[in-house]
Amino acid sequence: MSEHIRLAEEDGVLEITFARPDKKNALTNAMYDAAREALESAQTNKAARVVLFTAEGSAFTAGNDLAEFASVANGRAGELKAHRFIEVLARAEKPIVAAVHGLAVGVGTTMLLHCDLVYVAETAKLSTPFVNLGLVPEAASSMLLPAHIGHVRAFAMFALGESLSGAEAAALGLANKALPQDEVVATARAAARTLAQKPARSVVSTKRLMRNAAMLLTRIGEESLIFEKCLKSDEAQEALRAFAERRQPDFSRFTS
Ligand code: COA
Repeated sequence: MSEHIRLAEEDGVLEITFARPDKKNALTNAMYDAAREALESAQTNKAARVVLFTAEGSAFTAGNDLAEFASVANGRAGELKAHRFIEVLARAEKPIVAAVHGLAVGVGTTMLLHCDLVYVAETAKLSTPFVNLGLVPEAASSMLLPAHIGHVRAFAMFALGESLSGAEAAALGLANKALPQDEVVATARAAARTLAQKPARSVVSTKRLMRNAAMLLTRIGEESLIFEKCLKSDEAQEALRAFAERRQPDFSRFTS
């Protein structure tokens, strides 16, 4: 359980809401666990035919909580719960819809690659600045993002920290539609409810045929090993200290 994840079930749709607006919905271990448990239980709950991700406040999510990254990096905390959430996302058989009304950083963007319908605000900002943090892509995004938008665009997002607007994301096929911000959640809810009325077995089988979950899980495992190693590196420690100290990181003393 986490006070920062809200759950609501209506008309066959389980809505999972990131609710930590004062921290731009940065995802803590407790939030990952709560979202993962909800997603996992939806797979066997006959009443939940579709899962919908939404968020409170101005952002969708600022990605992983960087203070928790720092705790893991310093050995003060054990495991990162993000990986288990991502695995359950990749394994999910029931369809997943996302309503991205604002900023989506890191996992906020990479999780969309595992969703089946994605609605974004025209003004939303999608970014995957893993290299800025001394890290590597996760959630099989090292494979899925270049497959969607091409190597050079994906590399610029990972390594230069370039972002995409919602309008660009829709044009590139990462989202179904870019909408005015105040229409995003209503549109996503309507799509989720329509989907919930479709023949459930057919929907699940269609999703299964369209994705190679085993291949995604293999890539997620490979990325996680490198990610964990990078998180303990001096480059990541500098990046995380810089974020906490509200300054630019200085990577000049580190060599490959
Ligand atoms: N982890 C922990 N706290 C975060 C956070 C994160 N990923 N992102 C934002 N916050 C916190 C800020 O520390 C701040 O807390 P405070 O009010 O106690 O100081 C609060 O959320 C608001 O963020 P702020 O930076 O003031 O808002 P902004 O609009 O100027 O910038 C971001 C928003 C998301 C661009 C900026 O906070 C940011 O770059 N965050 C890090 C994103 C990131 O690298 N995520 C990991 C990707 S793998």
